[in-house]
Amino acid sequence: MFRAALPMPIWPLEPGAGHAVPTRRVLSARRVDLNQASAAGARERRPKPRPLPQRPHFSSGPCAKPPGWHPGLIDTRSLGRSHRSALGKARLQEAIERTHALLELPRDYRLGIVPASDTGAVEMALWALLGPRPVTMLAWESFGQGWVTDVVKQLRLEADVRTAPYGELPDLQTIDPASDVVFTWNGTTSGVRVPNAQWIDEHRSGLSICDATSGAFAQDIDWRRIDVGTFSWQKALGGEGGQGMLVLSPRAVERLERQPAGRPLPKIFRLTKSGALIEGIFKGETINTPSLLAVEDWLVALDWAERIGGLEALIARADANAAALDRWVSGADWIEHLAADPAIRSNTSVCLQFADRTDEEANQARQKAMVKLLEAEEAAFDVGAYRDAPPGLRIWCGATVDTADVEALGPWLDWAWEASA
Ligand SMILES: Cc1ncc(COP(=O)(O)O)c(C=O)c1O
Repeated sequence: MFRAALPMPIWPLEPGAGHAVPTRRVLSARRVDLNQASAAGARERRPKPRPLPQRPHFSSGPCAKPPGWHPGLIDTRSLGRSHRSALGKARLQEAIERTHALLELPRDYRLGIVPASDTGAVEMALWALLGPRPVTMLAWESFGQGWVTDVVKQLRLEADVRTAPYGELPDLQTIDPASDVVFTWNGTTSGVRVPNAQWIDEHRSGLSICDATSGAFAQDIDWRRIDVGTFSWQKALGGEGGQGMLVLSPRAVERLERQPAGRPLPKIFRLTKSGALIEGIFKGETINTPSLLAVEDWLVALDWAERIGGLEALIARADANAAALDRWVSGADWIEHLAADPAIRSNTSVCLQFADRTDEEANQARQKAMVKLLEAEEAAFDVGAYRDAPPGLRIWCGATVDTADVEALGPWLDWAWEASA
């Protein structure tokens, strides 16, 4: 029987008339070995694995801070100052320039800091750009589906909407290069990413608009095929939420200036003034007040990323983490990847589903119980599947996570599975 609320993990090694231990504090598996437990006539439980992950931070956003991060690393000189002071602007500009370099964006691409995190950046792009051309919307999980809702229900644009169930990708091959295409590079809630950008026509006349928030800094994005890219700071480099970043290709700028969408836009979505791009946004003159604490924290994250070797090193770390998790998944018979095809499987938001999917409600409850147990043990934080996704676990494997911690996590997941039975 499924016992989600069971207070103490029990692992019945042999059938017997044992009784449940009243509380975990009274008889901890850490303190009582299996022989003692047998001798006492108690039902035996699987010992808690060792070691614990040193940092149990596997959330898919906000994600783990960079290894070695501590608040003392934050330069506080700009705090309490105006973001329009010479210092404030210089720090914002530095954040832009160093991010541009770290991402290896083409020299003629602009990068700006915008309000309202990744969502703000995506909405700005959709509202300011879409309309003049046909639109193709690609969605294979919740966030992409959210952008479809915006375009179809709020902007009320006719769109070629292509969706795929959790774990799969829609057809990417027959997209009209004359249409604008909106997609999510890495679907955070399904763990499915596009394998590359080859399917985006080099000679397209439409714009490609890409929500790259859980792919940037972990996956190889061919920016020449992306006209608008967005991401936020709290994902792959472990920054803080609040600001979004917006990448614009020269063609996106040209569209904004020459063929604006022609709808009224609130101030925080406006990228042009009198028909010209507001260049200040791309030099640190933000539309409204940013958190300078978040900016300074982002600069700390950039320091770390540059020091370990830049983009290549970040991608290698995410790949190594995802490979370590995959080794564990291959040996576990109770869980499997939601994305069956490794070619489209994320190396950041790795999504796993229970192998036995006959009872969705029981699986939901089991997920909840496991997440609770893992958190209580400080073995893993925030690893439940996204609320709309199939029940299971989601483990962030981005670069700020250490591979040793992913390796230490596997046995804890087995433990939590059995403990929640
Ligand atoms: C793919 C994707 N898009 C958008 C968002 C929303 O991001 P934010 O909270 O930075 O606006 C998320 C958050 O997890 C995401 O994963």
